[in-house]
Amino acid sequence: YLTIDDFDVDGKTILVRVDLNTPMDMDGNILDDMRIKSHIPTIKDLEDAKVVLIAHQSRAGKSDFTTMKPHSQRMSQYLGKEVKYVDDIFGTYARSSIASMKKGDVILLENVRFYSEESINRPASEHSTTHMVRKLSPLIDIFLNDAFAVSHRSHLSITGFTETLPTGAGRVMEKEISSLDRGVKGGERPCVFVLGGAKVDDSLTVADNVLSNGGADRVLVTGVVANVMLAASGVDIGSTNLKFIESQGYTDQIERGKGILAKFNGKIGLPIDVAFNDGGKRVEVHVSELPDGNLPINDIGLETIVSFSDELKNAKTVVLNGPAGLSEVEPFALGTHEIIKAAVQSEYSIAGGGHISAEVRNLGYDEKFSHLSTGGGACIDYLAGVELPGIEALKVAATRYRLNR
Ligand code: 3PG
Repeated sequence: YLTIDDFDVDGKTILVRVDLNTPMDMDGNILDDMRIKSHIPTIKDLEDAKVVLIAHQSRAGKSDFTTMKPHSQRMSQYLGKEVKYVDDIFGTYARSSIASMKKGDVILLENVRFYSEESINRPASEHSTTHMVRKLSPLIDIFLNDAFAVSHRSHLSITGFTETLPTGAGRVMEKEISSLDRGVKGGERPCVFVLGGAKVDDSLTVADNVLSNGGADRVLVTGVVANVMLAASGVDIGSTNLKFIESQGYTDQIERGKGILAKFNGKIGLPIDVAFNDGGKRVEVHVSELPDGNLPINDIGLETIVSFSDELKNAKTVVLNGPAGLSEVEPFALGTHEIIKAAVQSEYSIAGGGHISAEVRNLGYDEKFSHLSTGGGACIDYLAGVELPGIEALKVAATRYRLNR
């Protein structure tokens, strides 16, 4: 694939897909700005160009599905110059803002997922004929994909411009590929994946992939993923937890989990105890003794923490993806914190996903990981050996670019 170094960027208008998807609280405050910070080197390397940033925040229907204004403000602080927020994606205001840019200007367009065609997973060729691509492309000289973290999706702003514009990778993309490659290829055994967080569908796909292709020796499950797998294993996790799974649209994943447990007998580690949230208090219960009741499971239990930690300390390669519990609430951050501390004792440690990375930084453990990925699902797919459409599109674009020169 091509990089910034392959292009003469001086005075050019460059559309850069970045991933600024950030944990935010109910009031729209940024809880962790790792991803925002991560793209600064890319933008600095484009200081002689006109930089048009395009990004998403969250998914339609979620409470943190909001505008990019807070992101532009935070980015301006890090960059030391204004990143102008333009509350439009490809309408008249966006296009006139781009057309009137001067060398050195940086603008950030509106949340690209406000436009429904963005999130359709389809080939680059189909995206390339959309209104967004047709309206923006005439104003742009070069497209860069720096959004490694969403490159596991063939979304419009990831692949759509790669067929119409000279295309390359930004600095975040380059660093992710080289660091994750070291983890995968150097991958000493045993290799243990810990899959947590709330993106249950993605996590089960990864578990299936890494255990099928031998990428991992064991997969330990935590977070909502663990609750789904406990239910799949026949444990009655209670109506509150089942309702939560239903509200996230993951009830069908329980059936799927049953199949995965049957297929990889013994290679998947389930929690042996959990921590309930009883009015804000942490209550530990063994999974064989879960009471009838409606308390939410918000973390893995102490015995699980000890046994999972032992396993991680003895592993040579550890990959963490997603928090073990409700890590933003103090009593329920314990599982996530202890898993992080155990993971860094292995030889090569990788952590991926917004929420777990935030906890790694809260603990001051950023430097202790071999690689802290900006990607959640993308990182895990990459490690699982799944081709990422965003990266594949970069390769195709590079071949086309070279042939046309
Ligand atoms: C992420 O947070 O992993 C990326 O920004 C992709 O978000 P998504 O899972 O909502 O597509």
